[in-house]
Amino acid sequence: MKLKLPSRNLFLCMVFIMISSLALADVKVGVVLPTSGAIATFGQENINGLKLAMEKIKKSSKQKLTLFVEDDKSEAIEATNAIRKLINVDKVSIVIGEVTSSNTLAMAPIAQENKIPLFSPAATNVKVTQVGNFISRACFTDDFQGVVMAKFAVNGLKKTKGLIVIDNSSDYSKGLGAAFKAEFLKIGGKLVTNEELTYVQKDMDFQSLLRKIKRANPEVIFLPGYYGEVGLIIKQARALGITAPFLGGDGWDSPKLFEIAGPAIKGNYISSHFAPDDKDPKVQSFVKDYEKAYKAKPGAMAALGYDAIGIVADAINRAKSTSSVDINAAILATKNYPGVTGSITIDENRNSKKAAVVLETTATDFVFKNKVAP
Ligand code: PHE
Repeated sequence: MKLKLPSRNLFLCMVFIMISSLALADVKVGVVLPTSGAIATFGQENINGLKLAMEKIKKSSKQKLTLFVEDDKSEAIEATNAIRKLINVDKVSIVIGEVTSSNTLAMAPIAQENKIPLFSPAATNVKVTQVGNFISRACFTDDFQGVVMAKFAVNGLKKTKGLIVIDNSSDYSKGLGAAFKAEFLKIGGKLVTNEELTYVQKDMDFQSLLRKIKRANPEVIFLPGYYGEVGLIIKQARALGITAPFLGGDGWDSPKLFEIAGPAIKGNYISSHFAPDDKDPKVQSFVKDYEKAYKAKPGAMAALGYDAIGIVADAINRAKSTSSVDINAAILATKNYPGVTGSITIDENRNSKKAAVVLETTATDFVFKNKVAP
């Protein structure tokens, strides 16, 4: 008789699990990320953050979320193919992605047409959420981070003779460059040249661009690009004897930046969404969990992935039904969500208003300088 007890308990336990899983609605969540290609660390860190959050969500969520993950190889055309497949073949109710502005802008009209919510963890270009009422995001926008860095240049570093270099293949770079320029000129900065200084993604040799920069002799250089080209530009600039500090935005936020640029990366500054050395206990416990799972320190992309799926799961739990329209309404009603990238409220323009951090680069790391409220 005694021997039967544990097996009876086990049986009851299994019945309980079966009943409770029957009560869970299964919500299919599509994810489109650049996990390979030119900006692969963005997608890889983001999916790491998403998966780490899923461990917690599985334990607490009323609904069962199933992720359908697509790699777009860092290409806009692949991103549009991926979202079409997720909507038409996999029949997802919502899509998380992409993490860059150009790729999200390519996907957004498709999501909007199909009335499938598209929630971007990290695309910061102002135009992204203007595509329509099904597009929202977990991050602040470039008109904010551009102002933060212009003020940092003029008021923080006391540098007023500036120069801006744009990645002409990126909506992010163009928008962030324009936002920086407007504020920089407004608060007393001057540009040392009227010439448009540009490059495109996958360029590797920046000698002629850098010689122009050297001749123009700026005190500060704004470089709103992605880590791959930024790393090479800074490395080649220092080799050429350009000593002015470079400032950038969240697009630098990758561990690869330090590998690519080497020690030349020291002494530059960016705005971003998250600082792993932030003393906030919520941040520290996330950093600890992430390091345990992946043996690496989380950057902004990891933190934004973690928060994005957290917000989506929270919205799915609050939604009137599991229809895409109701999930979208619940996302847009998000208020004071306690994220590791800050307290997140989706505003009337479907953006997240929250603080930016300014980070300084050492030879090996980003270190926290200060936090700027919106
Ligand atoms: N904000 C960038 C873009 O819109 C992407 C990015 C976000 C990169 C956060 C790194 C960290 O393209």
